[in-house]
Amino acid sequence: MAGASFDLVVIGSGPGGYVAAIRAAQLGMKVACVERYPTLGGTCLNVGCIPSKALLDSSEHFDLARHGFAQHGIRATVELDLPAMMKRKDGVVRDLTRGIEGLFRKHGIERVTGTGSIAGPGAVAVANGGETRTLETSRILIATGSKPTALPGVAFDGRRIVHSTDALALPEVPKRLVVVGAGAIGLELGSVWRRLGSEVLVLEYLDRITPGMDAGSAKLLHRALERQGMKFRFGVSARGARVEGDVVHVDVAPAAGGDATVETCDVLLVAVGRRPFTEGLGLEAAGVRTDARGRIDVDDHWRTNVTGIWAIGDVISGPMLAHKAEEEGVACVERMNGMAGHVAYGSIPNVVYTWPEFASVGLTEEDARAAGREVAVGTFPFLANGRAKAMGEKDGQVKIVADATTDRILGAHIVGPRASDLVAELVLAIELGASAEDVARTVHAHPTLPEAVKEAALAVARRALHA
Ligand code: FAD
Ligand code: NAI
Repeated sequence: MAGASFDLVVIGSGPGGYVAAIRAAQLGMKVACVERYPTLGGTCLNVGCIPSKALLDSSEHFDLARHGFAQHGIRATVELDLPAMMKRKDGVVRDLTRGIEGLFRKHGIERVTGTGSIAGPGAVAVANGGETRTLETSRILIATGSKPTALPGVAFDGRRIVHSTDALALPEVPKRLVVVGAGAIGLELGSVWRRLGSEVLVLEYLDRITPGMDAGSAKLLHRALERQGMKFRFGVSARGARVEGDVVHVDVAPAAGGDATVETCDVLLVAVGRRPFTEGLGLEAAGVRTDARGRIDVDDHWRTNVTGIWAIGDVISGPMLAHKAEEEGVACVERMNGMAGHVAYGSIPNVVYTWPEFASVGLTEEDARAAGREVAVGTFPFLANGRAKAMGEKDGQVKIVADATTDRILGAHIVGPRASDLVAELVLAIELGASAEDVARTVHAHPTLPEAVKEAALAVARRALHA
């Protein structure tokens, strides 16, 4: 097939790739985006952020109807229709992935279906069903994302021993679900299936949940999840697993070494992280350097070591988050066009969408102290917030970590209702270099959950009004 000349070919249509393609088109570039799957949107829209949040919302409604309505004086008998819940989730995904097709049409971006590889300087070969088309381009942007990490001795079978993609589409509610990994996926999907009726046990290698996030806040979430019935075993890992009939036997070994014990379950979900996906891209032949963990090496303008090739998103270093990939996509393309694109890596929010939610931005208290900073910490519990009380929400708190001398906000950690939305104010505060006093003196509507943010800011100076 004849070649085509583009200013930019993006490989991968996840939040990094498709957003970069749109920004490039806005800047007048002729753009193609290569995607090997039949739908656009990558992990995030197809098998990540969106379907998981659709199931989290549906299962939260189910759980509320069963256990939360009574406190509001509502009696309800509810029944689960799992196929309908899955159909709704699939519909949400379909609408959003089609939305990207529409955005591509609107911006004149050429969508090319097939597996892309670097065929040489300025050339991307796209293989699809035995045919190969070569796209000529001035620039190549790699945005090929990531894949689930497997555990040695625990082979995925897609039915009983699964990763997140399968766990978003189980055909029935497992009686017993064992999850390996108390990170974002383990806790979110563990919550979904617990709410729908599974007995859930989480096995975690370390001595805490959500490593890397604020330790005190993580403890609050851990306790809340335990009260909901989720069980945890810390300091252990799954050394092996085998399926016998309908039962998975999991060998659970202490992280410190020693004999394994056996846990049984209907489904074993392995959620121990993700790895960058670069298979078939031809990086070696093209001379593109990767690091020891397989991530593509880039400089601070997202340029690889090979002229004309850039990389962004999960396939490079940094947190594997959709909004991080998007910001990199925009900034990278702006840099290509001589603009001052920039990503504020110090203020990337991180949210775990359990209930209560756990949202975090900036430095944890431990990190700030370890870096030798003197900090002033303010906390405010949702128990003392009028709106949370009206909603029947008791768990969690807002915690603000500020510099003890300048009062500048360094980090914020929220466990509580809609923490995902509440954290936005503090992301902006950090981005604008605000002090805790700035937030404390900002008028917050009453009665709202954000008043807990204001009170935590007041608490930094030991003058919270309602606690
Ligand atoms: P991806 O989204 O992985 O997209 C890469 C695309 O490239 C894929 O479509 C792939 O098919 C394509 N591709 C790969 N190789 C080739 C090739 N050679 N040729 C053509 N196409 C290719 N993040 C959040 O911020 N919030 C969340 O709530 C959240 N929830 C998640 C829930 C789950 C269950 C999972 C698994 C992840 C979640 N994430 C979440 C992480 C988020 O999905 C990723 O950080 C994000 O998708 C990374 O974007 P990306 O563009 O770098 O890559
Ligand atoms: P993760 O890195 O968030 O958590 C993995 C957990 O598994 C950690 O607690 C780790 O200590 C533990 N672990 C590692 N090896 C283990 C072993 N052998 N035995 C027991 N425990 C072990 O990874 P996860 O949850 O798989 O998610 C992958 C990526 O997807 C994350 O980087 C995350 O950022 C992203 N994601 C983001 C979400 C969000 O923003 N809400 C939701 C889901 C995923």
